[in-house]
Amino acid sequence: MHEPTDLLPEGLVPGDLSISRRDLLIAGAASVAATTASAADASGAATRPGKASTKDAVSSMMTVNLRVNGQPRELKLDTRTTLLDTLREHLHLTGTKKGCDHGQCGACTVIVDGRRMNSCLSLAVMHEGAEVTTIEGLGTPDRLHPMQAAFVKHDGYQCGYCTPGQVCSAVAVLDEIQRGVPSHVTGDLNVKPLLSPLELRERMSGNICRCGAYSNIVDAITEVAGRPA
Ligand code: FES
Ligand code: FES
Repeated sequence: MHEPTDLLPEGLVPGDLSISRRDLLIAGAASVAATTASAADASGAATRPGKASTKDAVSSMMTVNLRVNGQPRELKLDTRTTLLDTLREHLHLTGTKKGCDHGQCGACTVIVDGRRMNSCLSLAVMHEGAEVTTIEGLGTPDRLHPMQAAFVKHDGYQCGYCTPGQVCSAVAVLDEIQRGVPSHVTGDLNVKPLLSPLELRERMSGNICRCGAYSNIVDAITEVAGRPA
């Protein structure tokens, strides 16, 4: 069991304790006052219009270079701009559709450096120097891409809202299979994936069609792949 004096710092006698305690209280009060003052400063700065917000706005802009459908494009963008909004709002390429804006429907699918992606889930600044292909870059009304022509032939759409994303996705899917990229349903990872309806349905499962044109979409992709639909 310690004597009370054992707990005091060296050189301090019990009589000094009251002074020490008073000093401690004064120091504590001063520190609370200082903390409160700096917190008030901080909240004042946050609510004062102009200062912090202007600085943030300036620092959030960035120059981004993309190659879109073969054309070099230099854009000054807010760093929070998605690739989808860059294409639609800044480059006016409205063929790429905004469905859910949450990565759940595939309407915004484009091809970036040869791989399909949901452009609503990706920031444009992440793609400096990238090659972006949208539905406008695949074909034109006069010169349809074979996948577009096959969608027309097989009635692979009704309202057409999902179609640009379906076509971009389908083009990239055939390339994935060609490169031997496995999917969730690929049975043997050591052999090239088959061009089976099961593979196509699995790989296209991120592209939702509210009109339910799925079987015709699979027929269109199958025909482009060189197999009888
Ligand atoms: S809009 Fe991008 S996945 Fe739906
Ligand atoms: S064709 Fe209408 S959503 Fe697919």
